[in-house]
Amino acid sequence: MSRLLITGVDGRMGRLIARDANLFSLEVAAGVDSRLPEGVSFPVYGNVNEVKEEAEVLIDFSSPDMLPSILDFAIARKLPCVLCTTGYTMQDEAMIKEASGSIAVFRSANMSLGVYVLRQLAKEASKMLPGFDIEIVEKHHNQKADSPSGTALALYESVKRQDSQKAFGRQGQVGARKPEEIGLHAVRGGTVAGEHEVGFYGPSETLLLTHSAQDRAVFASGALRAARFLIGKTAGLYGMEELVAGI
Ligand SMILES: NC(=O)c1ccc[n+]([C@@H]2O[C@H](COP(=O)([O-])OP(=O)(O)OC[C@H]3O[C@@H](n4cnc5c(N)ncnc54)[C@H](O)[C@@H]3O)[C@@H](O)[C@H]2O)c1
Repeated sequence: MSRLLITGVDGRMGRLIARDANLFSLEVAAGVDSRLPEGVSFPVYGNVNEVKEEAEVLIDFSSPDMLPSILDFAIARKLPCVLCTTGYTMQDEAMIKEASGSIAVFRSANMSLGVYVLRQLAKEASKMLPGFDIEIVEKHHNQKADSPSGTALALYESVKRQDSQKAFGRQGQVGARKPEEIGLHAVRGGTVAGEHEVGFYGPSETLLLTHSAQDRAVFASGALRAARFLIGKTAGLYGMEELVAGI
């Protein structure tokens, strides 16, 4: 058993990570959250700097404002990190890249294998259908903080062409659609775990590529698999591509 530290341990995802860790031969050494979870068998701290327990890997599902303290702590401890939080700014991304010079960092806005495949397929479709308009639609539960989702933005990066521009929703007298636009649309409601659709709209035909997560457990198992993969890795930035190649 390797020891795991979970940041955001009382969140929807953090609780699943704690529940399923042992299925991946990981033992939860400690958790961090501003809320105190009930009925857990490991210590939970309000701040990552207070953690005394040793661990071999960290999984984060919290919020972007926790990133600086997580990276400082992980660099000081030489602790590999699986960063699953979304909504990072460009400065946050730069901070992650810099940290990956000292520690192993796994970063993916979506930990599901299906979404990784969707990104590859969408990239190919974008190349094969050059004149087609592209629109990305995502749906999530009504508690999600960031919009559009990190996955929708990652899908944009997969399908974008030379002159592409993001068009976030449309309202009012916007005029005809510009060919370089790629629409990004966010639907929020209920308990939807995550749905993403990349649509390619051509003359008289439409291709829709969709992925639907029926349960958040799919993201938890992806993060736990990434944690196992990262233990013992040299410093660097890793993602789903490396995880899939290493399976
Ligand atoms: N990469 C993926 O596959 C994937 C999948 C699901 C969710 N996410 C992302 O993971 C993050 C968490 O999602 P969630 O649904 O579990 O959210 P959540 O709001 O249920 O949980 C977040 C937890 O982190 C804690 N937290 C946040 N900021 C903190 C801070 N500064 N200090 C201490 N504790 C802090 C909160 O108290 C909460 O318990 C979001 O950014 C979400 O978009 C990513």
